[in-house]
Amino acid sequence: MVRRVCIARILRLCAAVAVITGLSILPVRVRAAQPLVDGVVKVGEYDHSTVLGNGLYTLSWTVASDTAWFGIQATTTGWVALGIDPEIAMNGADMVFGWVSGGKATVLDQYSTGMFGPHPDDTSLGGTTDILFSGGSEQAGTTTIEFSRKRVTGDKYDKPVPASGNLKIVWAIGNADGISPHAAKGSATINVGAPASIVLTFTIGSMTGTRNGTPVTLDAAPVIQNGRTLLPVRYVVEPLGAMVTWTAGTQTVTIQRSGLTLALVVGKATATANGVSVRIDPADAHVVPVILQGRTMLPARFVAEQLGCAVSYDPTTRVVTVTFPKP
Ligand code: HEM
Repeated sequence: MVRRVCIARILRLCAAVAVITGLSILPVRVRAAQPLVDGVVKVGEYDHSTVLGNGLYTLSWTVASDTAWFGIQATTTGWVALGIDPEIAMNGADMVFGWVSGGKATVLDQYSTGMFGPHPDDTSLGGTTDILFSGGSEQAGTTTIEFSRKRVTGDKYDKPVPASGNLKIVWAIGNADGISPHAAKGSATINVGAPASIVLTFTIGSMTGTRNGTPVTLDAAPVIQNGRTLLPVRYVVEPLGAMVTWTAGTQTVTIQRSGLTLALVVGKATATANGVSVRIDPADAHVVPVILQGRTMLPARFVAEQLGCAVSYDPTTRVVTVTFPKP
């Protein structure tokens, strides 16, 4: 927190100097070295994220040095939970269970002792509470819980979080605050450690793209319209751990990723990012999502940049390159 304030002050000072001296100053993207556990998951705050349960539950995580940070955003006003490294069903899962009530987050360090619970607090089993920082918020039907802990706590009711590689998890949400049956649940394997860099390439007019050098077959070829590249969005969005949904009634494509909900409507030059209107191309109102041969094609640069990617286009080879994270 202190360091962020200092950086913000330095940037403000630089801006003031620039104004006084007439120098132009470029926007600087200051990436937090580690997530801030303040109960709000911000775009780009975590190294990784994945959308589970058809969009009901988004898990974000960063693992660095001896610490792990997790952010849960779920469609509920009740409880949310993460279970680390279960043995079978819920059994043996190191659970963090939380909810927000009256603006206050309750976050518990628990352990499931049976296949279908119970999952008492570690302290009641003779263990310790090892959550370092936690926070939460509830807004518009979404509950967010963030917490950090040491990767290896030494408590036998906490499962180690590896520095890299795969980690099995279970997740669940409930409709009420406090311990009550789940309304939705599931399991997944996540990859912890340094953020995987992803490089995607697409060639205008070609059904073959690449993902980190491996060929990928698209279901529609990228096209150029009004001087802007349009892509079948799934091939950009899904490799980044985001989820795409299509609402036929309103002709809306919704893209969900850690801290971001992006909505684009076919034929409209304005999208929304977390409910705020954004022009897809400030310079050209003709750049809009379109449906071509039954496929929804979205403006590549707008979507990729909103998701924290860099986008480049080589007019000679007609290749679009999307790089995540932005170098
Ligand atoms: C709040 C108290 C809880 C109760 C009473 C409970 C109870 C149960 C029961 C009876 C089942 C088997 C029936 C079914 O599939 O619905 C089950 C399955 C499951 N629960 Fe829970 N649960 C609780 C909390 C949690 C939490 C906190 C998590 C995750 C962090 C979780 C994850 C799961 C998963 C993934 C399954 C499916 C397991 C499988 O079929 O392999 N549960 N739970």
